[in-house]
Parts: sequence; structure tokens; C-alpha cells
Amino acid sequence: MINMTQYHLCALILMGVVLAGSHVPAAQAQSAQLAATPPMGWNSWNHFAGKVTDSDVRSAADAMVASGMRDAGYVYVNVDDTWEGERDAQGNIQSNSRFPNMKALADYVHSKGLKFGIYSSPGPKTCAGYEGSYGHEEQDAKTYAGWGVDFLKYDLCGLRPIIRLYDPQQDPKKSSAMMREAYAKMRDALIKTGRPIVYSICQYGVDSVWEWGEEVGGNLWRTTDDISDSYRSMALIGFSQAGLERYAKPGHWNDPDMLEVGNGGMSADQYRTQMSLWAILAAPLLAGNDLSKMDETTKSILMNREVIAVDQDKLGIQGFRLSPPQIWVRPLADGAKAVALFNFVTDDVPQPITLRFKDLGFSGPVHARDLWAHKDLGILHDSYTVIPPMGGVVMLRLWK
Ligand code: GLA
Repeated sequence: MINMTQYHLCALILMGVVLAGSHVPAAQAQSAQLAATPPMGWNSWNHFAGKVTDSDVRSAADAMVASGMRDAGYVYVNVDDTWEGERDAQGNIQSNSRFPNMKALADYVHSKGLKFGIYSSPGPKTCAGYEGSYGHEEQDAKTYAGWGVDFLKYDLCGLRPIIRLYDPQQDPKKSSAMMREAYAKMRDALIKTGRPIVYSICQYGVDSVWEWGEEVGGNLWRTTDDISDSYRSMALIGFSQAGLERYAKPGHWNDPDMLEVGNGGMSADQYRTQMSLWAILAAPLLAGNDLSKMDETTKSILMNREVIAVDQDKLGIQGFRLSPPQIWVRPLADGAKAVALFNFVTDDVPQPITLRFKDLGFSGPVHARDLWAHKDLGILHDSYTVIPPMGGVVMLRLWK
């Protein structure tokens, strides 16, 4: 028998459990809203890596506005690894000497009508060996929220030694459970702050993260290892995304890593391939170049609004490979289809590619527009044959 005081206590605990339980899905629904379309912005890593400074980030924010990128949809200004300093006596994370005042930096970014992102790891150290969030998850989330952070990239690296420590047999099930728990822990910590923060999971696609990324709160999850500024790396990553389309939806996106457009290791045609493929894949568009030094070609690629519109299409359906290897299709909200036809650099001579409209589910003639030539192609019948440049792409929008 329980007495009334015990009864009330039980009822209160139960209520608490129910309330906490209902709070999490509500917060998750709110967080999904934050990334209703794939996040767009800039990240410091691909160009600045471990040398990034406060003033580089301010310049990126300035350039994002001055170049027109903000108005084209790029909003996040994300500082990647190497901003972290020591913890203070109370365990609060501080930035290092290259970032004198994170709150002031966030305020600066916000004053430009942009959003501010940051980076950490579930391990004690980050990939670059700086301070991670292990054992300080709630404290760090609170600090980030206090600074005005809007986006967190949470990168596995540093947790791996801990997983090995607790799971010396390397049982895949146990390791996977620990990894998921670590990501869920930061999800809960972010929710607890009450500040909407986009949650970007970075663990390189291990253990098929696309199957559980949403469950641990991910708005986006990296599907592969790091990209580098070469056609080979970009194409390997981009074209290997076939099959992942069923895991993406508004609020939750596959992330084949950041853009390399403008970094100098690829030709303009090859960068157009990255931009087109990423748009077909409904991938986050996080520029990774030095925005303060962009030539006109780079700007025209990053700010091709017709291609961006494909990436940001409200329906939120990730595109798929129609026929291996070159033709990719993405259904759009207004019934149109975006189609990208690619030639590989490995083709000695660029090959003609024929797109048959009935393969897209269209019967009869279709309207067509070339999204890189910015040109209406008029009404087309049955099929369209083009020769995309080597390593390049022809991207079309087709509708009835
Ligand atoms: C990992 C990530 C990269 C970058 C670096 C920083 O390699 O995948 O995107 O964040 O860490 O150390």
C-alpha cells in the first residue's frame, strides 16, 4: 500500500516523465523546421583549416553579403575545428587566442543578417587535437547558446579512443550504441538550451548513419570521408551517393561534405559538376573557399540561382541516378524534373548522352531550360542529346 504522499510523489514523477517525453519530440519537430531545406552557408575548414582566425570569419561574413551570396540563400557562417582554447576553472570552454571573443564574433555575424556556426567533438579532443565536449556536453551547449550559436557540427574523431577503451573487443554493436548515445547526449543538451541550433552529425557515414541520424537529432549527417579539392575526390563522393535518396527529407539531409568550388584544384566545368550534383542530391551547400577572393566564374557557380532553386526545392526529395553512370534526376515541387547529365574526366573523348523523356515519366513534348546556359530550349520531343564537357555537366529543368 502506498500512502497519499507517496501517491502524489509517484504522480509527479510520472507527469515529469510524460512532460519530458513530449518536450523532446516537440523540440525535434522545431529543429526539423530549422532545416526544412538543406542548410546553405560557408565553413572555414576546406580553405583555412587549422589557421582560421576571427578576422577570416568576419571577412567571410562581409563577403557573403557584398558578393550577393546571402541574398542567394547562403546564411550560415561556420567556424570549424581549431577555435577551441582551454577550459576555465569551472570547466567552461573558452576560445583560443585566434578567437578573442566568440560572443562578439557571433554578434558581428548576426548583425549582417547571417547565422553563426561552431564545431566540437563528442570526444575529449577534436580531430585536430583541440578541446572536445566529452563530459561537458550540457555545459558546452549552454555556452554555445549563450554566445548565440545557430549551428553545431559534432565530429566523431576524438570519441574513437574512448570507444576502444570501453569496448576493447571492438564489438560493432557495442561501439555503435556508444556512438549513438554520444550523439543523442548532445542532441538533448542542445534541446535543453531552448535555443534552436541546427545539429550537423559528422562521423563520415560509419555504421550507416543515414538509418539513425534522425533518431539522434541530426538535421544533416556526413555520408562519407572528407572531401578534398580534386575531381577524383569530389566525383568519388558525389557519384557514390546513389541509393541514399530514401533517407533524406525536410529537416534531415544526407551530407556528402562541403563544396570545394573556388579552391583552385578543379576546372570550372568540374566545379559546375559539384554544384549540380549537390543540388540534385539535396545536399547542404556549404561553400569552402575564401569568399573574400572570388573571381567571377566562382561567383557565377556558387550563385547560380536556378541550380540553387533545385537544391532548395520545397518538396525535399533527394534526386537519384536514372541510368548509370551519367543521368541523375530530381523531382521538384511544381511537377518539373531537374536532370543532370555528366561526362567523367576518365572519358577520353566526351560522350554524347541521350535523355529519353519517357524515362522521366513524361509522355508527349516537354518544355526545357538549360540551367547553366540560362537559356530556354523551347519545346522538345521524345529525347534530348548533348555532349557535356569532360568532367562537366549539362543541367536541365523539364516540365509539361
Ligand atoms: C574531420 C572532419 C572535417 C573537419 C576536420 C577538422 O576530418 O570530417 O570536415 O571538420 O575534422 O579537424
